[in-house]
Amino acid sequence: MAADMGGDSVLWEADDASSRVESQNISNTRAMDPALSDEDLGIDRSLRPKRLEEYIGQSRVKENLRVLIEASLQRNETMDHLLFSGPPGLGKTTLATVVANELGVNIKATSGPAIERAGDLAAILTNLEPGDVLFIDEIHRLNHSVEEVLYPAMEDYFLDIVIGKGPAARSLRLDIVPFTLIGATTRTGLLTGPLRDRFGMAFRLDYYSTEELADIVMRSAGKLGVGIDRDGALEIASRSRGTPRLANRLLKRVRDFAEVKAQGYINDTIAAEALSFFEVDELGLDIMDNKILSLLTQTFAGRPVGLNTLASALGEDAHTIEDVYEPFLLQKGLIDRTAKGRVATKRAYDHLGIRYPMD
Ligand code: ADE
Repeated sequence: MAADMGGDSVLWEADDASSRVESQNISNTRAMDPALSDEDLGIDRSLRPKRLEEYIGQSRVKENLRVLIEASLQRNETMDHLLFSGPPGLGKTTLATVVANELGVNIKATSGPAIERAGDLAAILTNLEPGDVLFIDEIHRLNHSVEEVLYPAMEDYFLDIVIGKGPAARSLRLDIVPFTLIGATTRTGLLTGPLRDRFGMAFRLDYYSTEELADIVMRSAGKLGVGIDRDGALEIASRSRGTPRLANRLLKRVRDFAEVKAQGYINDTIAAEALSFFEVDELGLDIMDNKILSLLTQTFAGRPVGLNTLASALGEDAHTIEDVYEPFLLQKGLIDRTAKGRVATKRAYDHLGIRYPMD
């Protein structure tokens, strides 16, 4: 039966760390940076930590996970379902693979929008081996009928499948093996209550500190065989928007620049020069961030701007602005969300070198 229902909704699966990353295709990666090449994506994956002890940052989350993993290994029980939330690029997918590796189980990964019908989910669930991790990215985007199938699967490991239509329709109960669902979302607020309640634990990932990102850059440089000093790593880290994915990507761009201009060695001067060359400013803001700030400060002259107005002025999807760009601008204190709309703060005016109108 499962064979009939299969679609291509499993984006990647593997039982070892090297093939695990083969066909991964998580859309946020590109949402974060549409210019990311396939080569970048491949290298990005090879830089990801495989075990908890290699994973830098998110210390509170790691400590909690260590306890959960240890307890389930000791009891020889399937681990509770987990929910990871936070802005793109902070390592939700990486952490899910780390958890699977620590548990010594397979991971199958998919995303909310990729599971179109209840049958797609049934096909995935009936193909799991006992204890496997099923990773669903963008879980807030599951459609309602799929979500309903997920509830009993998560709670009691069975599926209620309706076969046929109209008067001939009948319902079939199908037992599945115990599994751990790891859901990831950029927005916990968009998850339905019943789904949220079925996770044993929820973790919010925070932006990384500059020191942590510098550690990640040093580790990645080591893996790539790139010469770099701590100040060079700190310069890259401070412009990486608190995000390891971006830190690794900037490291590769700076490496290119350093190879052409400085015999391949990265120090703070070369890193700063390279990043200015690639138009990443001292706060890590890119062209899109700066466009948002200049719209708020200049085009709309400081008046509050609604999300949809901002989106159409930028020619960008409102969700992308909300999930990808705004969290960082808010965290940096460059914009505020008011009841009337988004406004730029004094810090944004200072950053752009424009006089703050309230002064
Ligand atoms: N590469 C990407 N994210 C990482 C992390 N959190 N720790 C170590 N290396 C990483």
